[in-house]
Amino acid sequence: MKDNSSSNTKLILLHPYILKQGSSNRLWLLAFVSLFTLIFLLTLIYTRESFTSSSTPSATTITTTIAAASASRGSNNVPLPKHVMTTLLHYAANANTTEKMSYADLKPIADALRKCPSPCNFLIFGLTHETLLWRALNNHGRTAFVDENRYYAAYMEEQHPEIEAYDVHYTTKLKEMGELIATVREQAQNECRPVQNLLFSDCMLAINDLPNQFYDVDWDVILVDGPRGHWPTAPGRMSAIFTAGVLARSKKGGGSSKTHVFVHDYNLDPQRVCSDEFLCRENLVEENGMLGHFVLERMDENSSQFCRRKSPSKSGGSAS
Ligand SMILES: *[C@@H]1O[C@H](CO)[C@@H](O)[C@H](O)[C@H]1NC(C)=O
Ligand SMILES: *[C@@H]1O[C@H](CO)[C@@H](O)[C@H](O)[C@H]1NC(C)=O
Repeated sequence: MKDNSSSNTKLILLHPYILKQGSSNRLWLLAFVSLFTLIFLLTLIYTRESFTSSSTPSATTITTTIAAASASRGSNNVPLPKHVMTTLLHYAANANTTEKMSYADLKPIADALRKCPSPCNFLIFGLTHETLLWRALNNHGRTAFVDENRYYAAYMEEQHPEIEAYDVHYTTKLKEMGELIATVREQAQNECRPVQNLLFSDCMLAINDLPNQFYDVDWDVILVDGPRGHWPTAPGRMSAIFTAGVLARSKKGGGSSKTHVFVHDYNLDPQRVCSDEFLCRENLVEENGMLGHFVLERMDENSSQFCRRKSPSKSGGSAS
């Protein structure tokens, strides 16, 4: 820039001098115009070059910074700041409703999501008061909900386009739990084996009517907080817990071989019985009365037993 202005100054100084010397000679004028044009062009090229060369590194730096920023937003996946997580849990736990999880139940799930390798695949049975919370806590991951109320699932998806919800038709009844568990035990080497693609399963407890691509996902965290109801003709959570157990053991991909499975309302007998049967005591890492936390490992494809140790529960086969 400095050179540029000095060459301009030179031109202005030259101008009257040449005019004085040979203003009569048109050739001189032509020569001057040519020279001026040449100098102007050279100056222009030089200026452009120095502008480009001086600005190129900073432009590249900016582009790189933007690319890095968008990459970190897309896939690098910084977890939610701790205080944001705590705030979300606070407001969820203190909402004016009886249909909610306590802070003590929310916290272990939030912690598992925080530690989950990104991007985390989070599957939830039951659309509840916490639905938006789960989606928010799993900020960079995939969060999918399965609910027995198709109208509510459609409503939630419409109200909150960021929510991915599927409706499922449960065929079970809570009062038939004993028979169902006995049947699964009998078929643990065929239809109801612990490692399989549930899409093709005829097991009575398998949820096999979700979209095909659902079964290709390796779910890292699964929460069973549905279906609703604990009366005898309510569907019960047998299918949800069985399905969670099979999905966890049938993980394929290169991600974590572990799956965190949480069972809410674990204080109630059906949840304990089904968890003992399909998630197994040996995998129970913590419980606080209302919430059971299991960590399941991927299993050998030919396995025909859910638990290594025999289940301590006797209620399973009692009905047959
Ligand atoms: C909580 O909800 C109930 C019923 O919806 C209402 O009567 C009550 O005033 C609410 N309490 C607070 C503190 O908002
Ligand atoms: C599972 O069983 C099939 C057939 O019975 C066999 O070919 C396969 O090698 C077995 N896989 C493992 C990992 O044992």
